[in-house]
Amino acid sequence: MKIFVTGGCGFIGSNFIRYILKKYPDYEVVNLDALTYAGNRENLRDIEADQRYQFIHGRIEDTKTVSDALKGTDLVVNFAAESHVDRSIIDTQPFLMTNIVGLQALIDSVRRAGIQKFIHLSTDEVYGSLETDDGIFTEETPLAPNSPYSASKAAGDLLIRACIKTYGFPAVIVRPSNNYGPFQYPEKLIPLMVTNLMDKKPVPVYGKGENIRDWLYVEDTCTAIDTIMQRKARRGIQCRRRK
Ligand SMILES: NC(=O)c1ccc[n+]([C@@H]2O[C@H](COP(=O)([O-])OP(=O)(O)OC[C@H]3O[C@@H](n4cnc5c(N)ncnc54)[C@H](O)[C@@H]3O)[C@@H](O)[C@H]2O)c1
Repeated sequence: MKIFVTGGCGFIGSNFIRYILKKYPDYEVVNLDALTYAGNRENLRDIEADQRYQFIHGRIEDTKTVSDALKGTDLVVNFAAESHVDRSIIDTQPFLMTNIVGLQALIDSVRRAGIQKFIHLSTDEVYGSLETDDGIFTEETPLAPNSPYSASKAAGDLLIRACIKTYGFPAVIVRPSNNYGPFQYPEKLIPLMVTNLMDKKPVPVYGKGENIRDWLYVEDTCTAIDTIMQRKARRGIQCRRRK
């Protein structure tokens, strides 16, 4: 199996690549990453020399590079994204470019290459906020994003949905909650709190400190993606537009 991963030098992507290469001795991984401020090759330094691993410095928007890199690929997992809510409030443009325009370019390249499965990392933030502390989101919950980041992710999800309906594009969208674990960029909540405390700096409180977040250990997210990888597509996921 040859897996094409995008954004693999970021937090979840680097954990996923390490997880896959450790678990499956006969799998190969090609990792395309733009190396934005959030991407760091050091996150995968221990596997750089692995013969089954190849790194390509590039953007998902670059269809020539992506199309060349996709040759021989069985499956694509897309982690490439602008992912930090606070940054999206300061400057929306990079979020629109990568999470919407870049995503569509990637979808088009993957579609042309005839790949068997495309797994896309979205986020539970596309559902907005829960009204009650004990509520839950389901796949039927309406999309109600509350930040430019989550709006760009919701837009990406809708583009994928449209491609599934229009072309029978073999995509699966996953919407995990906040992840924590090794190799997370220290602007995110848990590493920010931990590094501030280690440096004896004050820790920031969001809003009135009353917000509740769900947390998922990053390896559990990797296990979930692996399960989706191994499953055959369900009927209904690969549906075609009705005449
Ligand atoms: N971290 C979380 O808690 C969390 C929770 C739910 C969903 N997600 C989603 O999971 C995915 C991965 O999140 P993360 O925390 O690992 O993100 P991250 O910011 O740590 O990593 C993103 C990676 O994508 C790369 N990248 C950015 N733009 C690119 C482009 N145009 N072309 C190629 N590479 C590009 C960056 O260089 C970086 O390596 C994102 O789609 C995010 O929305 C994350």
